[in-house]
Formats: sequence, structure tokens, C-alpha cells
Amino acid sequence: MFALGLETSCDETAAAVVEQTDDPTRPWRTCANVVASQAAIHREWGGVVPELASRQHVRDICGVVDQALANASLRLADIGLVAVTQGPGLVGSLLVGLAFAKSLAAARALPLVPVHHLAGHIESLFLEHGPLPLPAAVLVVSGGHTSLYLVPVPGRYELLGRTRDDAAGEAYDKVAKLLGLGYPGGPIVDRLARSGRDRAVRLPQTRITHADRNAPDRPGRMDFSFSGLKTAVLRHVRARRAGRAAPLEEAEVADLCASFQRVVVETLLDRLFSAARRHHVASVGIAGGVSANSRLRADATARGAREGLPVYIPSLALSTDNAAMIAAAGLRRYAEGVRAGLDLNADASLPLPT
Ligand code: KG4
Ligand code: ZN
Repeated sequence: MFALGLETSCDETAAAVVEQTDDPTRPWRTCANVVASQAAIHREWGGVVPELASRQHVRDICGVVDQALANASLRLADIGLVAVTQGPGLVGSLLVGLAFAKSLAAARALPLVPVHHLAGHIESLFLEHGPLPLPAAVLVVSGGHTSLYLVPVPGRYELLGRTRDDAAGEAYDKVAKLLGLGYPGGPIVDRLARSGRDRAVRLPQTRITHADRNAPDRPGRMDFSFSGLKTAVLRHVRARRAGRAAPLEEAEVADLCASFQRVVVETLLDRLFSAARRHHVASVGIAGGVSANSRLRADATARGAREGLPVYIPSLALSTDNAAMIAAAGLRRYAEGVRAGLDLNADASLPLPT
């Protein structure tokens, strides 16, 4: 059985083909994974412009699907189901993928399976590594989300904590913007940080516990907050620039990037590993665009080795937005009996079913 996955929730138009195999150690195989990035279009504006994103999805989606089929050496007639991101994301962008998926499902009499974007990111771990030792603590870190889940069995996600304000990727993007480094900021800050000193600038790590004001419903829940860190970077830059017309020196920018990145990575890993201990998990996973970060990958692996916990992270192609993860999640949901009708609608703030 081959699943065609479609992902258009933000600024990547993506299509992929994933095969369901008979091998229990590797139940899914990626046959093709095509992504058309719109980064060059949005860079000019310093961030994603929703209307431009939807219009570009319309232009790209047919070509991306054709390319995915060609790369998999398959024809449309070989596809057994269509999986599509229903939300969360930009509603106009989501609608393009959804309209395409519904049309294809109707024309070919194929089952249509809606997928939550974050469930897709979590499934990227299973797609890459096969079944993880469970229960697992999984951190999803992207441009729109920073959420920590307990995965007791495949396909079930219990929320342990999430950001109260900015997502980690969003903080990267905002810091890059205020330093005039370009969009998307994550990969640029990651690269510059390599030549900086990570303790050169003192920046705060925000700790939020359930005892704080606005305490969440779940006792022991661990939330994140990144807006204070972003503001601290802004204050530092303003203070350094005060009275000077010239931009910051290259070495100073590198130090700031390295210091910011150290705090982000430590915050993420402190929470992830304390949740892992508290819930006696058998493994930890990190998924989403920020899991492409070189320091996060290296530090997570080192900490896992120290704490005797296996750490799973997807390859770079499956870390950032892609449709292979959506096809994989679609295959899992299809096996669970999930089907959508042609009245399926996009939901910009779709909650992850728990
Ligand atoms: O998962 P994703 O591709 O899209 C969303 O669902 O949001 O994540 C995109 C985010 C962006 O904020 C981008 O700056 C960040 O992931 N990102 C990184 C790196 N590569 C992408 N952040 C830090 N370091 C990276 N190497
Ligand atoms: Zn994503």
C-alpha cells in the first residue's frame, strides 16, 4: 500500500509517497519526499506573508505531486490513500492542500485521511527509526510550536508542556531579524553560533513551573517561555548600539548567537530530560524544524548517553516540514479506521487529539 502525503500548512509545498511494508521493524518506507520551499519569496518581507504563501502553493502543488510520483517510479493508479495536513497552520495555505487532496480522493475513489501537523512531526521519528522504545518523551520544536508529549503507545500523545508565548523556532527567527541576519533565522543563527563564545553574553533562562500564576490544569506540567529571552537579546543589542551608527562587529554577533542558542538548547533539554525522568520513559525523541539545529542534536545525544536514555532525532530532510511524515501519520490513522468525507475542512488551530 502506497500513501500519498500532502503538506501545505505554512511556506513549504510538499508531497511524498510512503509505502506500508510487512517488516514490523520498519513498517514504513519513504519512496519519495519532495519539498518546494517558498523561503526565497518570503525572505524579502522578513517572514511568511500568508496571502503570498497560498498563491504559491496553488502554483506549485501539481508539479510537486508529479515529481513525487516520478521519484517513486509510480503512477497515480498505484496510490492507495491520500493523507493531508488538516491543521494547524495558515488557513489559506492549508486549504490548497486540502482542496487538492479532496479532488484527488474523489476523482480516484481513494480514502482521504486528515492528519494533524504535529502528529506528522512525531511520526517522522517512527518513519526514520522504526518503532521507538515506549513510553517516550517527545519534544516537538518548530516555528509555530514548542510542545512536550508523552507517547505511551504509537499514535497517542499526552501533552506535558508547551510554550506560553513564542515557539523556539519563532525566537530564532525573531532574534535573526533583529540582528538583520535574514529569514528563516534558525539555520543562520545555528551557523554563526559555531564561531561564537556561548557564555559571552549573560541571558536569562526562564523557568515556569505549575505553581506559577495561570497554572495549567495538569499538575506537574512543564511549560516553556521564550519571549523573555528574545527581549533580553533585544535589550543587549540596543545597549550595544546606543550612540553608535555602525552595526555590531561580526564576532559580537557570533557571541550573541552562541549565547542565545546555548540558553534555548539548555531550556529545551532540561525540560525534556526532567519529563523523561519523571515519567520513567524508555526513550526520548526530538522532532520539528528546530530539531535540525546542530547544537540541539549534539547536546541531546550527549545528554542521552550520560543519562542512559536512547535519543531519537529525524534526519534533516524529515526534521523540517515535509509530506513523508504526513503520509506516515496517514497510514497509521488509516489502520485505526480514520477516514474523512469530502466535507473535510481546514482548521487553523486544530487541537492534537489525545
Ligand atoms: O517544522 P518547521 O519546518 O515548520 C513549522 O512547522 O513551523 O520549522 C521551522 C522552524 C523555523 O522557525 C526555523 O527557523 C527553524 O525551524 N529551524 C531551525 C533550524 N532549521 C530550521 N532552528 C534552529 N536551528 C536550525 N538549524
Ligand atoms: Zn512543522
